[in-house]
Formats: sequence, structure tokens, C-alpha cells
Amino acid sequence: MALSDSSYLQLAPDLRMCRLLNGMWQVSGAHGAIDPRAAIPSMRAYHDAGFTTWDLADHYGPAEDFVGAFRRALAADRGEAALGQVQAFTKWVPPPERMTRQIVEENVAISRRRMGMDRLDLLQFHWWEYAHPGYLDALAYLGELRDAGQIRHLALTNFDTEHLDVIVGRGIRIVSNQVQYSLIDRRPEVQMAAFCQAHGIRLLNYGTLCGGLLSERYLGQPEPGRAALTTASLGKYKPMVDAWGGWALFQELLGALKQVADRHRVSIANVAVRAILDRPAVGGVIVGARLGVAEHIADNARVFDLRLTDQDRGEIQAVLERSRDLYQRIGDCGAEYRR
Ligand SMILES: NC(=O)c1ccc[n+]([C@@H]2O[C@H](COP(=O)([O-])OP(=O)(O)OC[C@H]3O[C@@H](n4cnc5c(N)ncnc54)[C@H](OP(=O)(O)O)[C@@H]3O)[C@@H](O)[C@H]2O)c1
Repeated sequence: MALSDSSYLQLAPDLRMCRLLNGMWQVSGAHGAIDPRAAIPSMRAYHDAGFTTWDLADHYGPAEDFVGAFRRALAADRGEAALGQVQAFTKWVPPPERMTRQIVEENVAISRRRMGMDRLDLLQFHWWEYAHPGYLDALAYLGELRDAGQIRHLALTNFDTEHLDVIVGRGIRIVSNQVQYSLIDRRPEVQMAAFCQAHGIRLLNYGTLCGGLLSERYLGQPEPGRAALTTASLGKYKPMVDAWGGWALFQELLGALKQVADRHRVSIANVAVRAILDRPAVGGVIVGARLGVAEHIADNARVFDLRLTDQDRGEIQAVLERSRDLYQRIGDCGAEYRR
């Protein structure tokens, strides 16, 4: 492995992950075309650089099939034992309907088959409608499948603190909750992070680079119009920037991040990721990878050597203090999916 030991986290006693996960929403087709002939070798490049953990979902286009193809190629070249170094964290995002054991088992079986895994490493569960109690049934059945060896660990995505509390109160063991968390969107700091810390649950975070907006590419640039938001990520996070404080304040944040980055000879993206990795309860940050189209392997590897100082944090905080409170405007984690 090319990354140091501190780049990894023991998410559970039997599950070690890289703290910077490779996000696969970017292969879904909503971020430009992806060619499988380039994507699978690109996955090998990430893996060989030490980025061994993948975040994906049942509905990210061919993502689960890519993991299957990647694992087959790796096993053919290096033997089955090499698969022990790969972690694939998928999601199940069912419609909010009645959940039976059969429905749950059939859907888990689809992911296991597509990825070629007898046992899923981590199954992150999403639920669209809290008013429909089916999520508690689904989680109970998922727990049974975990105990039967089909899933190593159960996790959630986009659950708010209130419903995470309900789930934990039912005695359902959850190792992580995946939420949006960035210097722009700091809603997890209001109550989610403290709850997770108190219950030994880790946050896995997305949107930390705002689809690439938090990078040199946008420093000193005029506000991008709709046509310039060419990936689904950019389309998702630009409105967050608008709600947070707008383009002029965002430029001030980029300026502050650039100053910090220059002091450490790293990139704006490195500082934006490190700032979130250092926050309480955070297990990892997921960075989207447009496999075979654009890669930032060498740059993102620098995150692990970066140590932010009080001065760095102070300069960033001075800008954040002038932003709006997204918790007040949107609600707790995941509220944007349930309006
Ligand atoms: N649970 C959920 O509801 C949910 C929602 C959204 C995302 N996610 C997960 O989170 C992952 C991350 O996706 P995201 O949409 O949040 O995007 P993101 O990670 O904020 O942004 C990804 C983009 O950032 C740019 N980038 C990466 N490293 C960089 C670097 N070192 N310097 C400059 N630019 C860099 C790349 O742009 P270019 O490709 O243009 O170079 C990349 O496509 C997804 O793949 C998915 O796994 C989950």
C-alpha cells in the first residue's frame, strides 16, 4: 500500500477502510459518459495507490457491476486473497413501501450477485419517507441477513438525528451514517455528530468538495451559470453555495483556503477534505471519481500528510462565520431528500 497507516480506519473490528473513499455516483451517467474499458483499469490505479474503499449504490448505473468486474480482474491477476484488500460499501434505496423478508433478501441478493460477494462489506440503507414505518421492518430483516452472514455491517445514509435515535433505541446495530458534510454544509455539527460520538457511530461524508467547486478551478472565476454546471454534482452543490451565502462569499472562502493551502504546499481540495476529516465522529470523506475521465489520485493522497494549525482553522472560520445557517434553512441531515 502506498498510503500510511493513519490513512485507514478500523470502522469495525473486522472492517478496515481508507479514510478517503472513492465515490462511484460519478459512473452513473449523470456526470458524463464513462467507458467501462477505461473505468475498470482506473479502479485498479486507485486501489494500487492505497485508495481501497469504494462507495456506491444499487442505483448508481453500472457501479455494482464495475465492482464485480474489478474484483474478478484483481482475483485473476493476484489470486482470491487480494480481494481481502478491497472494501465495497453499497447502498439499498428502496421505494417507501411495505417491507417483507423476501423483498429485503431478494434485493440484497441482487447486490451480492452484481458485485460477486457472498457477504457485502457494508450495506447503507436509505428511506424516503419517515411517516412510512417500513424502514424499521427493513432494518430488522437486514439485521437478520447480517447475522446470517450475508452482510458484514449495517449502515444508514441520509438519516436525521431523530430517526437515527429511533433506530438505535430499537437495538439495531449501525456502524455509520452517510451524510452531506463540507465547509459549506455543516449541518451535522448541530446534533448529528454528538449523537454519533455518543453511540460509536461514524459519519461517512459526501459533498465535501461540492462536486469540485471547492478547488483552484473556481478560484477567481465568475459565478457559473446553469449551463456550466456540467455534472449532477455541480448541479446539486451550487444551490447549496447559494443558500450558504452566495458566490462572493464563496470566493472569499476559496481565497482563505488557497492561503492555507499555499502555506502547506497542498491544494484547496486537500484543505477542504482535511478540515472535515478532523471533525468529531467523522470516519471518512467520499470523493467522487469520474473513472477513466479525470483523476486526482496523487493530489488527494496529500490529504493524509496535511496537519491544519490553529491559524489555518481561524482563517477559514473567519469566513464561515459570515455564512447563513443551513440547518435553519434546510433542516437536519438528509432533510433535502424529504421535502
Ligand atoms: N448518500 C447520498 O445521498 C450521496 C449523495 C451524493 C454523493 N454521494 C457519494 O459521494 C460521492 C462523492 O460525490 P459528490 O457528488 O459529493 O462529489 P464531490 O466528491 O464533492 O466532487 C467530486 C468531484 O470533485 C473533483 N475533485 C476530486 N478531487 C479533486 C482534487 N484533488 N482537486 C480538484 N478537484 C477534485 C472532481 O471533479 P472532475 O471530475 O471534474 O475533475 C470530482 O468529480 C459520490 O460518488 C457518492 O458515492 C452520496
